[in-house]
Order: sequence, then C-alpha cells, then structure tokens
Amino acid sequence: MSQKKFFLVLLVISSVSLLLHHGGHFSWTLKAFLGCPPLRPHPSSGLKPKHTSIAFLKTHKTASSTVQNILFRFAERNNLTVALPIQACDHQFCYPHPFSSRFVHPHTVPPRIITSHMRFNRSELRRVLPSDTVYVTILREPAAMFESLFSYFNQYCLSFKRVPNGSLEAFLDAPWSYYRPDEKDSMYAHNTLTFDLGGEKDHLPTDTAYVQGFIREVEQVFSLVMIAEHFDESLVLLRHLLSWDLEDVLYVKLNMRTPGSRRSLGTTLPSRIRAWNSLDAQLYDHFNASLWQRLAELGPGCVGHEVRLLRRAQDRLVRDCFGGRLPQLRPAAQIRNKELRPWQPSAQVDIVGYDLPPNVSLPGIISQDVCLKLIMPEVQYSHRLLRAQSVRYRRNYPMRSPPPLRPALARRRLPAGSFRVLSPTLTQRTTGAHNRASRIGRLSRRQLS
Ligand SMILES: *[C@@H]1O[C@H](CO)[C@@H](O)[C@H](O)[C@H]1NC(C)=O
Ligand SMILES: *[C@@H]1O[C@H](CO)[C@@H](O)[C@H](O)[C@H]1NC(C)=O
Ligand SMILES: *[C@@H]1O[C@H](CO)[C@@H](O)[C@H](O)[C@H]1NC(C)=O
Ligand SMILES: *[C@@H]1O[C@H](CO)[C@@H](O)[C@H](O)[C@H]1NC(C)=O
Ligand SMILES: *[C@@H]1O[C@H](CO)[C@@H](O)[C@H](O)[C@H]1NC(C)=O
Repeated sequence: MSQKKFFLVLLVISSVSLLLHHGGHFSWTLKAFLGCPPLRPHPSSGLKPKHTSIAFLKTHKTASSTVQNILFRFAERNNLTVALPIQACDHQFCYPHPFSSRFVHPHTVPPRIITSHMRFNRSELRRVLPSDTVYVTILREPAAMFESLFSYFNQYCLSFKRVPNGSLEAFLDAPWSYYRPDEKDSMYAHNTLTFDLGGEKDHLPTDTAYVQGFIREVEQVFSLVMIAEHFDESLVLLRHLLSWDLEDVLYVKLNMRTPGSRRSLGTTLPSRIRAWNSLDAQLYDHFNASLWQRLAELGPGCVGHEVRLLRRAQDRLVRDCFGGRLPQLRPAAQIRNKELRPWQPSAQVDIVGYDLPPNVSLPGIISQDVCLKLIMPEVQYSHRLLRAQSVRYRRNYPMRSPPPLRPALARRRLPAGSFRVLSPTLTQRTTGAHNRASRIGRLSRRQLS
C-alpha cells in the first residue's frame, strides 16, 4: 500500500470512529450540513435544555389559537403549570381589563406558561412569571384582521352593530359616526393589536414619537413577534428561540371561519382599513420587516428546509391521527363530540371545527388523547387543563391550605366593568380559594345587572 493510500484509509477510519463516538450528535452534524445553525451550541456538553417559561400574548383573530394549542400541549407533555383565569374572568384574563395577577386562578400558580387572552401589562405579568420568561406574540396584516374582527364581532361590538346592513364599506365611509371609543367592546373596532399589547388604541397616529416609542417598547419586551401570514416561518424562529424540537411545534389550524363567512377585500378596502387602523399598520409593517430580517439571518436554506420538515411531519401526524386521511372540517352543529365544538360568535359566522372520524383504530405509537388535543378548541382545552391542575394542586396541598401565592388577592374587588360570566362549572367544586372565586363571580354578575 502506498503511503498516500494508507493515510487516506486512516483518515476514513478516524472520521467514522469520530462520528460513532459522537453518535448522538450525528443528527446535529447532519443538520449543520443542511444549512441550519446548531440548536445545541456545545455538542460536547450534551443537549441544551428546552426553554420552558413562556408568556404568549394571544392577540385577536391572528392564528393565535393555534399557537396557544401548541403551548397547551407542550405544557401537558412536560408537566408545566399553565396560568389560567379565575372563573369570573371566563377563559380570558378578564379582557379587556389590563392583566392583573388577581385574575390568575390560585390552583395554577406558580405558572411557567401563560397564553390566554389578556390586555398586556408587563409589570403585572412579572409578578406571576419566572424571571427568565421569554415573551412572544403574533400579529396579522391589519386589513385581513379587521375584516375578520368585523365579521366575528358583528353582533357583539356596538360600533359594528349600528352600521346599516352590516356593511364594512359603510363603516369605513364614516368610522367616527359608528365608533365610540369608551363603549363596551370598542377595542375590536380600532387598533386592536395596539390595544392588546397595552397601547392606546385612539392615540393620534401622526404622533410619530408615540408610535416609535411604543414599537421600541414592544421590541424590548418581546423576544419574538410572529406574523400570521408567515406562520410556519415564524414557528421555525420560535423553535430556535426556545431550543425546542420540530415535534414540539406541530399543529392543526384552529378557530377558522367557513369560506362562506369570509369576503374578499378587493383593491380599495385594504388601504382604507389600514388608514383607520394606522397604529396597527405601522406596528405590523415594522415587525414583518424584523421577522424577515431574522429569517435572513437564520438563512433561507435553513428556514426552507425546516418548513419542509415541519409540513411533512405535520402531514404524517394528521394522517396517523385521523385514520389515514385529513380530518373533516365541519360546522359546529355537525360535530358529534361536544368537546370539539368551537364557540360560535353569531349566526352570521360559521366557525368550523374538526370531528374525529368514527371507529378509527390508531397505530400503537399515538394515543387518541394526543389526536383529540390537537384539534380541541380553546375553551374546552382551558377547562380540561384547569381540571387537571386543580387535581394536582389538591394532591400537593391536601390540607386545603391557602395557595402559596397572594392568598388575599382574590378578596379585593375586581375593577368595575362588564365581562361575560360562565355558569358555575368545574371550578366551583372545593376549597376556600374556589369559594372566593365564586364570590367574585357573584359580584360581577351583580355589576352586570
Ligand atoms: C409528568 O408527570 C407524570 C406523573 O407525575 C410522570 O409520570 C411523567 O414522567 C412526568 N413527565 C415529565 C416530562 O416530567
Ligand atoms: C400595570 O400594572 C401596574 C402594577 O403592576 C400598574 O401600576 C399599572 O397601572 C398597570 N397598567 C395599566 C394600563 O393598567
Ligand atoms: C341596506 O340594504 C337594503 C336592501 O339591500 C337597501 O335597500 C338599503 O339601501 C341599504 N341601506 C344602506 C344604508 O346601504
Ligand atoms: C412581509 O415582508 C416581506 C419581506 O419584505 C414581504 O415579502 C411580505 O409580502 C410581507 N408580508 C405581508 C403580509 O405584507
Ligand atoms: C362503528 O362501530 C359501531 C359499533 O362499534 C358500529 O355500530 C358502527 O357501524 C361503526 N361505524 C362505522 C362507520 O364503521
């Protein structure tokens, strides 16, 4: 054997042995070859742990229910406590009141994840969440979002309800003749994104100092602002931010309308909607640009590769779950399993959901529960989580001692105002904390009448 050949053989042997030796990191190496920077920065120190403390600000009509479902399932798989609202708040943290730690159900503290609807208040959230919490939110293109809000809340939001014939054009012709800034549900009719993020929805949009300052604030607090129009790309960024596996961000789209309830905006409406929601439009344009900047930093090769992997894995999961074919989208009335029926805002809008096909035999690797959770609407899933966490809480505090955090908080009065109150259900069962919560429930019922 010539010396040259000898060295070549030696090189091959040592490379192979190196790869075998680092067995677990082979896939990491492979990923690096495929264009993605490593999720695990130090191969020799093992896996970087997944980040588990997350605050997701759930904005309205932005695909945020789908992100919430991803987070709910991640929390369950990893036994993480999810902060959930007290009963008097419904399944939202007493939105549109600014978030307060008093709205958190005592059986769900101390939490690692929070994701239910709220109006953002950073300093109140900090009182509840761990100091290493990563803040994430999602925005949607304001014209499409407003069309969705206009149709979804047509019967709830008075600013929309008083428009003749429910005409979006009529509203945009003279918004100030229908819109009242201080009335109930007005936040659905003007700069909803800004409002949800804690900003002033009616601030003069030409006050650039305000807009720039607000954008800077959001930028400082939120490590990632996802964009609904680029959902899968946003999920790739999310998984890199949190060092999660691709399996952790698989989803099925939730809380959608039937195509019949949507309308096309044509060419002139989008710019008129953006002019009316100018604060939101400026916010959106800024964060869409930063999303694409971050995608460019990660590398289009990496992003494209991961988006393809994500879609393939998703396809497989959905097929495994729903008997070899995609689940059928159905109007709520036709969904047999009550746990899978989405909430319907009004007779004019059909929110579709999924039904599990009958008699599906699932392959052994995947449980029916996993599949059910994948398509479970927000309200039912929130109830389920609260039930499970209450059981865990009572196991951990069998003497019905007061919860470890702020036992006196719930006794204070909630701010005046009206929010929907659920009929007493599962939270009503036991403990002093529950009784306090239902006292608040009675209180707010009185405020409503
Ligand atoms: C979660 O808790 C269950 C029951 O206490 C336990 O069997 C399981 O191993 C835990 N899982 C994780 C990821 O900690
Ligand atoms: C947010 O919470 C802080 C207290 O943590 C409070 O001082 C402030 O007024 C709240 N902001 C709003 C808009 O309610
Ligand atoms: C509302 O619709 C009716 C019937 O389509 C029409 O006659 C009427 O002019 C409309 N009103 C307005 C204010 O557009
Ligand atoms: C977001 O920004 C990208 C890059 O500039 C652009 O291609 C895309 O059309 C924008 N998306 C929307 C919905 O405006
Ligand atoms: C499902 O199973 C039930 C009883 O187990 C049977 O009566 C029914 O016909 C089955 N439906 C289908 C679509 O196979």
